[in-house]
Amino acid sequence: MILETQGLTKRFGRITAVDSLDLEVRQGQVYGLLGPNGSGKTTTLGMILGVTNKTGGSYSWFEKGEDYRLRKQVGAILEHPIFYPYLSAMQNLRITALIKEIEKPDYAHALKMVGLYERRNDRFSTYSLGMKQRLAIASSMLSDPGVLIFDEPTNGLDPQGIAEIRNIILEIRGMGKTILLASHLLDEVQKVCTHFAVLRNGKRIFAGEVDAVLNKKNRIEIGCADLEKAKHILSNDQRVLHIEHANGYLVTEVDPLLTTQEINRIMMDQGVILSHLVFKRSNLEEQFLAILKESDD
Ligand SMILES: Nc1ncnc2c1ncn2[C@@H]1O[C@H](COP(=O)(O)OP(=O)(O)OP(=O)(O)O)[C@@H](O)[C@H]1O
Ligand SMILES: [Mg+2]
Repeated sequence: MILETQGLTKRFGRITAVDSLDLEVRQGQVYGLLGPNGSGKTTTLGMILGVTNKTGGSYSWFEKGEDYRLRKQVGAILEHPIFYPYLSAMQNLRITALIKEIEKPDYAHALKMVGLYERRNDRFSTYSLGMKQRLAIASSMLSDPGVLIFDEPTNGLDPQGIAEIRNIILEIRGMGKTILLASHLLDEVQKVCTHFAVLRNGKRIFAGEVDAVLNKKNRIEIGCADLEKAKHILSNDQRVLHIEHANGYLVTEVDPLLTTQEINRIMMDQGVILSHLVFKRSNLEEQFLAILKESDD
């Protein structure tokens, strides 16, 4: 286990910003903390990074507790990364390495990773917002940490800037690192995360796997007299991703290209008469959209 929180709570006066939050983040996961503005995402990240004092509950890094030294293995960017405007990217990174006492910072690798190597000697003040954000990512990667924390990494960026940051995150994910990412964008979580939790008013209202809930897989339930035969037919179709038995039916996960009509036709062709054929939409996705839409208003 990389990170575990139990009953983590933060109150600001009468406001409970984070309310008894339980989270479990495991090695290699890209964990999305999804929720509308004010739902407690930044406060949560602040607590697990030890920059915000918790009111109650606990958290544990690497199953070793809250010791601040454990955070050496965690790279983070919280809301507004601070750099010196009149210094270059390279000079800023050198300062970061000094402050964080990073022994062998690989500047070139970090800068290349975020596509800023060519611009490394330009002043920070001449950078676009997207470049500033990418420099922040480079700075969080300097110590080659196993875990990265990003708070709203694409906030304020244009579509191209958003795509660049997403690709960098996917690349980091490909390196096997564990990432915890706060976002109010369902789309962002859907595109880069493996797991996610939804926060509302500081409470966790959902936690699960992105694939199981948000991805473009449809679930279709099938019933007939000869389930084994139906299963055999379906298992030979590449569009069928997964089949299991439940309550006397076959529950399949299928590519959206495979419609109920198509399944019906395939079965008919093979002499199987279906007594039950139900398309199951994940209504969670609709719920999330509704929750997140509230926050846009
Ligand atoms: N320093 C503070 N003093 C008082 N209240 C605070 C403080 N920081 C946060 N809050 C309150 O705690 C709640 C959660 O805020 P937080 O910044 O964690 O939300 P968030 O999910 O990160 O929102 P956003 O999407 O806008 O970044 C909000 O009601 C906020 O007003
Ligand atoms: Mg925030």
